[in-house]
Amino acid sequence: MAHLSGDEKRRYVAEMFARISPRYDLMNSLMTGGLHHRWKRATAKITAGSAAGAALDVASGTGDLAFVLADCPNVTEVVGVDLLPEMLTIANRRRARRSGRGRRIQFVQGDALQLPFPDDAFIGATAGFSLRNMPDVPSAIREMARVVTPGGRVTTLELTPMPPGIASRMGRFYFHRLVPLMGQLIAGDRTAYTYLPDSVDYFLTADGLADVFRQAGLVGVGYRHLGLGGVALHFGDKPA
Ligand SMILES: C[S@@+](CC[C@H](N)C(=O)[O-])C[C@H]1O[C@@H](n2cnc3c(N)ncnc32)[C@H](O)[C@@H]1O
Repeated sequence: MAHLSGDEKRRYVAEMFARISPRYDLMNSLMTGGLHHRWKRATAKITAGSAAGAALDVASGTGDLAFVLADCPNVTEVVGVDLLPEMLTIANRRRARRSGRGRRIQFVQGDALQLPFPDDAFIGATAGFSLRNMPDVPSAIREMARVVTPGGRVTTLELTPMPPGIASRMGRFYFHRLVPLMGQLIAGDRTAYTYLPDSVDYFLTADGLADVFRQAGLVGVGYRHLGLGGVALHFGDKPA
């Protein structure tokens, strides 16, 4: 199903995340051995920079990246936007548990391809593990670039095809054999966790995604590999 495009992809992805939302956080922690929290902290730190202001987390899901952005000292407020009410319900429940610290975060429903925000509204925007699921990746990056302020930063954290080699063979065995089994046993959804590795195979290389950042008008574009090369953290700045 990773080959789908347009509205068909949007519908498939929405139904899939609605189904797996109750076990989504647990599966992330099991699949990455908890490392996704460290990667998300690195993403928030790179995004926040030093200017004070509001930050945006696109396709926020259950809110992990929004919460770590809110812990950055110069971030005054965080908005997390996601397509799905099922994910936002969990994010809001987690926000409520943060009592005083949750006040600076709000979650809203919206489409990453048509963000419901004015131009130049945020000092930075993140998107974690979501671009692969978007029917139009260049539009999603252009939208993030539109809503950040001049000099602001766009970052994405995403699974990325690995160059051939031992790490790639190990990664493929893990993602294509073990992850679907874990998905079946823990989330009761082998299909969703078969889509996950398949969607990486269909996704842009890290260099290809960097080109999409540049085509969106971002400058100082670069990326770092994380997780033995299976994850890429991309960044780019809107010209000041
Ligand atoms: C794999 S989850 C990532 C959640 C979170 N960012 C994280 O890192 O854990 C992908 C999220 O993208 C959301 N999503 C997919 N397509 C979207 C779109 N067009 N607009 C907004 N959210 C979208 C899904 O609802 C889901 O919550």
